[in-house]
Amino acid sequence: MSTDKTFSMIKPMAVKKGYIGPILSKITEGGFQIVGMKYTQLSKEQAEEFYGVHKGRPFFESLVTFMSSGPIVALALKKENAVSDFRTLIGATNPAEAAEGTIRRMFAETIDANAVHGSDSDENAQIETSFFFSQRELHNVDLIDAKQYTVCEKS
Ligand code: CMP
Repeated sequence: MSTDKTFSMIKPMAVKKGYIGPILSKITEGGFQIVGMKYTQLSKEQAEEFYGVHKGRPFFESLVTFMSSGPIVALALKKENAVSDFRTLIGATNPAEAAEGTIRRMFAETIDANAVHGSDSDENAQIETSFFFSQRELHNVDLIDAKQYTVCEKS
């Protein structure tokens, strides 16, 4: 049975290009609720640990160098069928192969700087979320319809 949680990171190049806002909009418009969010930078050692599963692959060194080159946004996300739906929303790993309208197609150019990371399984979503967040940094909010709540009436 799939859980309703996934993990994502907005990668350094997308942050540098000013895409945090537009990418977060695509994520929430896609029906995902943000339950944890952190603006931070990975050390080289932390990037090596996070991507440890890829150690030994030809792209590992450049991936680690890139991922520790600037700030990232770590995101804990919630939605029914989260892992699979999020991977559909972001598109193929290589932006050149990503479908029209996906986040990677819209905001990325290269396979390393592919704008966002998305967990590939429920198990990894859990591991990756706890890499960045403690339990008290995750907040489950029942969203309300903003149109029903007028904060300030015009006089
Ligand atoms: P991500 O979803 O963050 O997971 C691992 C990352 O390795 C991937 O996105 C890409 O940015 C990067 N990468 C670079 N080259 C490759 C490759 N040939 N195959 C898979 N991932 C790659």
